[in-house]
Amino acid sequence: MKLRAKTKNRLRHHSNPLNFRWEQLEVPDWQELLGGHPEVVDIGIGMGEFLCAYAQLHPNKRMVGLEVRQAFCDEARLRLHEAEISNALVVHANATVYLNRVLEKGSIELAFLSFPDPWFKKRHHKRRLISETFLEQLHWVMKPGAEFLLQSDNQELVEFMVETIENSGLFINQVAPHQTQDEPFSEATTEREDYYARKGYPDWRYRYTRQDEKKKQDSP
Ligand SMILES: C[S@@+](CC[C@H](N)C(=O)[O-])C[C@H]1O[C@@H](n2cnc3c(N)ncnc32)[C@H](O)[C@@H]1O
Repeated sequence: MKLRAKTKNRLRHHSNPLNFRWEQLEVPDWQELLGGHPEVVDIGIGMGEFLCAYAQLHPNKRMVGLEVRQAFCDEARLRLHEAEISNALVVHANATVYLNRVLEKGSIELAFLSFPDPWFKKRHHKRRLISETFLEQLHWVMKPGAEFLLQSDNQELVEFMVETIENSGLFINQVAPHQTQDEPFSEATTEREDYYARKGYPDWRYRYTRQDEKKKQDSP
């Protein structure tokens, strides 16, 4: 990722999302700033490359990007401002814990989660974005029939995420259980998606629909 000098000085390599505190959360006045509640969410936006690109391609959609690192939020807001994009906002938040405080019940029709941090060490797994709590909250903020699009380059993380999502009974894999979809989700691509494509690394993509009635796939 390219960083502007000011941002670079303020960043550590990894940032523990669990350090985000409740008092830091500021939920915007959606009506005043966006003309209504967002319909599309990008979770873990980095510096907002995809947020800007997608919002520009879909000017009639209201979009929000959630990001736990303050410096990345600042960069993404600057990017939106410079591109004069008025249909997208950035919210500084730990999405694992506060998704249902930021977004209203049944409001989201499309959710993107691209290349979440892997947190390889077992003792750091609790920092991963995908958890049962996160999935419950994501399901709660999504409209009936809404889509959840997930992509990652990391096989170990992918196995963990797909297992957790498909065992939750909250989302249905639109292709088939545990199956990827090959095509990019949108003409707009994420910074990591472009980077791994240039390197020739794999990109596992999954397209889920919100399950209306919770059905545990692993129930006896
Ligand atoms: C590897 S980057 C991917 C950025 C972008 N989605 C892309 O595909 O280029 C992961 C991003 O998720 C953010 N992140 C990690 N945990 C988060 C959390 N709990 N809530 C919000 N953002 C989080 C990180 O700070 C980082 O910006």
